[in-house]
Amino acid sequence: MQATLNGITLAYNDTGTGLPIVFLHAFPLNRTMWAEQEAALSSRHRVITIDLRGHGESDAPLWHYSLDQAADDVHALLNHLSIRQALFVGLSMGGYILLAFYRIYANQVKGMVLADTKAQADTPEGKAGRFQMAQIAYKQGPSAIADIMLPKLLSPATIQSRPEIVQRVRAMIEGNQISGIAGDLMAMAERPDSVPFLKQISCPTQIIVGELDHATPPADAKLMAEQIPNAKLAIIPNAAHLANLEQPEAFTRLIAEFQSGLKN
Ligand code: MLT
Repeated sequence: MQATLNGITLAYNDTGTGLPIVFLHAFPLNRTMWAEQEAALSSRHRVITIDLRGHGESDAPLWHYSLDQAADDVHALLNHLSIRQALFVGLSMGGYILLAFYRIYANQVKGMVLADTKAQADTPEGKAGRFQMAQIAYKQGPSAIADIMLPKLLSPATIQSRPEIVQRVRAMIEGNQISGIAGDLMAMAERPDSVPFLKQISCPTQIIVGELDHATPPADAKLMAEQIPNAKLAIIPNAAHLANLEQPEAFTRLIAEFQSGLKN
């Protein structure tokens, strides 16, 4: 499905009925990374997956991006769908956007799952790396970005022995436009430090991390779990950064359990 909001076209899926669960994907992927969670959860819930601006079938305008703007897109889409409150799941960049969303629209958040993400801003070296990656995207295209990102996203075991997952992630990355890749890199480089804000989060929060995640390691997850009041932490074995793709059943079970613990 598509909607034109905030001056751009956003692509999304809206499947099932019940408590809405909104999924925000990682960089530089798209909403299909949630296919297993969508299939498993939409029998009991209304599952919304969104191609964030710059990704998949949504527009990737050639302009400046910010994560607050991505949060505004999510807000506009929920208004378009007449959804007043939802459970949100954000993985990595999706988690950064979820923290931005909570900062602006806390009353729309019934509960939050922050997966394979972190609250700290980029270090100076991290920002320089974003610039380098944008230049690689510009000069060599999205497949060069896939070559760099795949070992950061998936565990060595998955890269060696699960070619279908590797191909799927590569296709998602290669399906993006350079404007979207560069726009997100700039937006992530400019995101604020959210650590001081964590203590103000008052909605139920589940933190998830793959035990082998080197991009946003378990130490980053533990920091969020310590700072967010009453947050729960779960570490998924045999999973790296894209824990929902490498261990879909464990990941989905955690969301289902978290959801069933929320008060109506
Ligand atoms: C992601 O998976 O969204 C990215 O690794 C996040 C980042 O580059 O900081």
